[in-house]
Amino acid sequence: MSDLSHQPRKIRQTLAIDALLGMDGVPLGKPPEPPEPPAHPEVSADQHRLTSASSPAPAVDIQSMMDIPHPTADAWADAPVGDDLSPDQKQALLDDLNRQYVSGCTKCELCRERKNTVFGVGHPDADLMFVGEGPGRDEDEQGEPFVGRAGQLLDKQIAAMRLSRADVYIANIVKCRPPGNRVPTPDEADQCVPYLLRQIQIIQPKVIVGLGATAVKYLLNDPRIAITRTRGQWRKFHDIDFMPTFHPAYLLRQYTTENRQRVWSDLQAVMAKLGI
Ligand code: URA
Ligand code: SF4
Repeated sequence: MSDLSHQPRKIRQTLAIDALLGMDGVPLGKPPEPPEPPAHPEVSADQHRLTSASSPAPAVDIQSMMDIPHPTADAWADAPVGDDLSPDQKQALLDDLNRQYVSGCTKCELCRERKNTVFGVGHPDADLMFVGEGPGRDEDEQGEPFVGRAGQLLDKQIAAMRLSRADVYIANIVKCRPPGNRVPTPDEADQCVPYLLRQIQIIQPKVIVGLGATAVKYLLNDPRIAITRTRGQWRKFHDIDFMPTFHPAYLLRQYTTENRQRVWSDLQAVMAKLGI
């Protein structure tokens, strides 16, 4: 498992960034509930099975993450998990996964209109992983996650945590842009999530932050989950600590002091968990 102390730290610009984000302290008391984010299509439990486990996923051997009906699962069944691998070995496995499976993938309809697949980016041995929903227009153009407006806010949040993009790993539930930035369908997510599971299996982060309802629903295997009620509460993704929070795009749409404080308090809980 990686150790944050070996990772480069950005100059301590936190105070300036906190002020920029309006995140100058842990909120005192419980702020009022925000309005529900825009409704996403509900998915039925049997349509999106990440694992055979019911929700919330119990802590089980991470190898069982690959117990998913998937054409490439056999190829991965004996694949090394990240525990004893060096960062270089992890990077090589990630590169193989991208080259062999993801970059030419045509498993779901989303392959038709994509310009680029968006595999993921960051430190192959990161302690902290962020998972979003799927690429938008800028990400599709550039082949890199979270490079548009939401990504710029995520960068500021990462900097406020005294980390940089290079310290963490960033990926999405689906690797191809849903047309018009719609929410991926349960079938599209089901087809694509094995790639994300394999990324997690290789990287073995200590903490995963689920950005928004789609990431949280699919990783916690609970289609009915409400992000407004779930955010800020530690959950488990198998044996990995999981923190749900608002998606930066939602935060941009509902850019209230209360919502910024909520997200910042979620990220501060993550910092405390990682000893940052
Ligand atoms: N929104 C996401 O969920 N992921 C991205 O990569 C960009 C925007
Ligand atoms: Fe393949 Fe995922 Fe792209 Fe669908 S979204 S084509 S499963 S890489």
